[in-house]
Amino acid sequence: MNAKLFLTLTTAVVFSCYGALSCPKECSCHISNKTVEVVCHQPTMDRFPGESLPGNTTSLTIQYTNLSAITGHDLRAIPLLQELHLPGNKLSSLPEDLLMGLPHLHTLDLTGNQLKELPPRVFHHAPLLNLVLKDNLLTITHADWLPKNSNLTWLDLSGNSLRKAPVVLLQNLRHLVTLHLSQNQIEELPLGTLSPLSSLERLHLDENKLQSLDASAFSHSTNITHLFLQNNKLKSLPANVFHGLKRLEYLDISENALRFLAPGTLDTGVSSVELSLNLWHCDAEIEYLWDWLKRKADAADVKCASPESRRDRKIVTLTRTELGLTE
Ligand SMILES: *[C@@H]1O[C@H](CO)[C@@H](O)[C@H](O)[C@H]1NC(C)=O
Ligand SMILES: *[C@@H]1O[C@H](CO)[C@@H](O)[C@H](O)[C@H]1NC(C)=O
Ligand SMILES: *[C@@H]1O[C@H](CO)[C@@H](O)[C@H](O)[C@H]1NC(C)=O
Ligand SMILES: *[C@@H]1O[C@H](CO)[C@@H](O)[C@H](O)[C@H]1NC(C)=O
Ligand SMILES: *[C@@H]1O[C@H](CO)[C@@H](O)[C@H](O)[C@H]1NC(C)=O
Repeated sequence: MNAKLFLTLTTAVVFSCYGALSCPKECSCHISNKTVEVVCHQPTMDRFPGESLPGNTTSLTIQYTNLSAITGHDLRAIPLLQELHLPGNKLSSLPEDLLMGLPHLHTLDLTGNQLKELPPRVFHHAPLLNLVLKDNLLTITHADWLPKNSNLTWLDLSGNSLRKAPVVLLQNLRHLVTLHLSQNQIEELPLGTLSPLSSLERLHLDENKLQSLDASAFSHSTNITHLFLQNNKLKSLPANVFHGLKRLEYLDISENALRFLAPGTLDTGVSSVELSLNLWHCDAEIEYLWDWLKRKADAADVKCASPESRRDRKIVTLTRTELGLTE
């Protein structure tokens, strides 16, 4: 075959596979020689914009539309896809083969849909690194949603209706760096929940119903730098619960039901701790917290809840005598 004919043939094939510079009328397309980004945000759009999508689309966003279904067949027309963002649509289910034929897909965002249940193996077919299922209607999670060799680094399950921590799902996610479980109804972290997550750096557990934590809850996740536990129902904390966390920079335990902290609780080198809106009881038992706060610049919003005579007093302004500490 002569070189010129070969070139003409391959050009024709590339052209027909990946389409010309078409763009669906409800969408805008940004085409370069590195990425093809398509963004669709027409509120009345209710069908996948199949026919006219550029065949070499690398990033597709369909947001705040009336889209209620998407199929694996739809997506197989754009096999170079790396990112799929579908926030604020009307999706209530996903087919099991959705991602089959997307060997480059690393990011899937399904924020703000109406997903209640997902089929087994639903995220098996793509090399996902980032998965966002925030603000849906999920009540349970399943271990087989993701493959055993998953490389996921970011998982967001916040804003669902989970009553139980996703213990089994997490067993396969050894590479997870960021985990969002905020705004669910999780009541406990069973022993070992986080132990496979040795790469974890950011853990968001705020706005749940946690009443207690086991002393070893975080003992395998020693790379945690940011820990969000605010707005739960924690009544007390084991004195050594944060002790393995040598890289901890930020801790939020505000809006819980803590009455005091056992001596040593915050002795981890952590610099920034949110402590306000607890039930701090200002008697001799508050000494450790009182002493810790006196060494901090931003302690003014940490106030006593009881006894009645000291209600709303800033803890740092109490004297040794008031606390009943002789010496
Ligand atoms: C996608 O295809 C268009 C039209 O053929 C081309 O101009 C563009 O460079 C291609 N981009 C990528 C990332 O393949
Ligand atoms: C892609 O675009 C860059 C500049 O944006 C250019 O330097 C490069 O040569 C282009 N590559 C191809 C294959 O066209
Ligand atoms: C979305 O679809 C529903 C049901 O099909 C319809 O009643 C509603 O008017 C649609 N909304 C828009 C903005 O098109
Ligand atoms: C995770 O990464 C490894 C090494 O790059 C690769 O062999 C494996 O197939 C990846 N897993 C998935 C589910 O893509
Ligand atoms: C913990 O963090 C350090 C520094 O970023 C990194 O070198 C190490 O690989 C991390 N450990 C794990 C288990 O990810």
